[in-house]
Amino acid sequence: MKFQAPRGTYDILPKEMNKWYYIEKIIKKYVKLFNYREIRLPIFEYKDLFQRSVGDDSDIVEKEMYVFEDKNERLFALRPEGTASVARSYIENSMISSKRDPKKIFYYGPMFRYSRPQKGRYRQFYQFGIEYIGDESAYADAEIITMGWKILQEAQVPDVSLEINSVGCKKCRKDYHKKLQEFLFARENKFCPNCQRRMKTNPLRVFDCKNYVCQEQLENAPQMLDNLCEDCEKHFDEVQENLKKLNVDYEINPRIVRGLDYYTRTAFEYKINYLGAQDALGGGGRYDGLIEYLGGKNTPAVGLSMGMERIILALEEAGVEFPQINTLDVFIIPMDKKYDDKAIEIMNKLHDSEISAQIADANTSMGSNFKFCDRNNVKFAIVIGENEIKSEEYAVKNISKHKQESVHLDKLTDYINSKIE
Ligand code: HAM
Repeated sequence: MKFQAPRGTYDILPKEMNKWYYIEKIIKKYVKLFNYREIRLPIFEYKDLFQRSVGDDSDIVEKEMYVFEDKNERLFALRPEGTASVARSYIENSMISSKRDPKKIFYYGPMFRYSRPQKGRYRQFYQFGIEYIGDESAYADAEIITMGWKILQEAQVPDVSLEINSVGCKKCRKDYHKKLQEFLFARENKFCPNCQRRMKTNPLRVFDCKNYVCQEQLENAPQMLDNLCEDCEKHFDEVQENLKKLNVDYEINPRIVRGLDYYTRTAFEYKINYLGAQDALGGGGRYDGLIEYLGGKNTPAVGLSMGMERIILALEEAGVEFPQINTLDVFIIPMDKKYDDKAIEIMNKLHDSEISAQIADANTSMGSNFKFCDRNNVKFAIVIGENEIKSEEYAVKNISKHKQESVHLDKLTDYINSKIE
């Protein structure tokens, strides 16, 4: 039997890693600049955690979770996202936060959603996420939105639009739900059976339906943005003022509702229009009620997650050249097996100076060895033959410059170090 990676998963091959390192480096820069600290979370959690956080009527919980029972008949789920786990960990580890001392946390790793795989949509995918916990001010929302924006700008993803909205709070959403339900029930039989069910239990989730006919019906639906309470309206204005101060371009899109139940007030997405249906590179929002809902103290919070694969696809689509990674500094080529000991001696010296080095197979032709150097971006090659052993002078070839210099054995590491720097 020939094994294949499961549908919706894929290997990130060594030759692709430069693309990932490119974005990861930019992410690392911004989490450091804005002072976020890393958290590493379990890959699986109790299923109920996601059910409660993301919501029973969400696509994620209804259709996309990988749920399994362990040997003690406990129900777990592979994590479909990171925010619920951060909130769980915040409570479990008695973290304390305030406006003066917010907890600023980031995570990075694979998430799992059982959806129909297509370009930009996988069953295992990588997310980078940041959460700003303990500050209800609009500045916190703006900081989170700005970080995602700056990461995408610095990575040079072209034509990203940032769309923001407010989905209100518990208070104003109650009245809005009533209005929305009135609108939906008046057209009930024009919606698909799933929407008909959702309009009774959780009307906002009707907006998540991908069915074209349902979407058409929603065109004139009342919008949350027109139904905000005074406090939510003020908050939304302040988010925008802060974004302007931070030089972030945004558009208001009253149709952004996000597919997860925990959001309050600000909701946003970074979008592109050249990746087909998978047009969101990232998104997030405020979730002031979640920590309390999971059993913690009333704690405001806001965050975002970005899909790594989609960012890479967008950059590939745009023809962006990813920097190559030089992994090998020196290829040591013994011209005969009898020079292998010398090759090991030189390799040890180079390694002691933190210069990467690898020994060629003595039976391989010189031509193949130099082809290896070209293919692998090797910086230098050192050939070991009879003359070199006797004289202790080695020809160090600079592969990209097609030049060579003769260097004494004792000076090899200093010479290569100076050239690498
Ligand atoms: P989300 O919108 O569900 O938000 O996911 C964030 C991003 O993950 C998406 O914009 C997309 O780029 C990527 N993504 C989602 N599903 C897939 C998939 N099947 N294949 C590839 N990429 C995918 C959240 O997960 C929230 N936890 C964001 C958040 C953080 N809100 C507050 N804090």
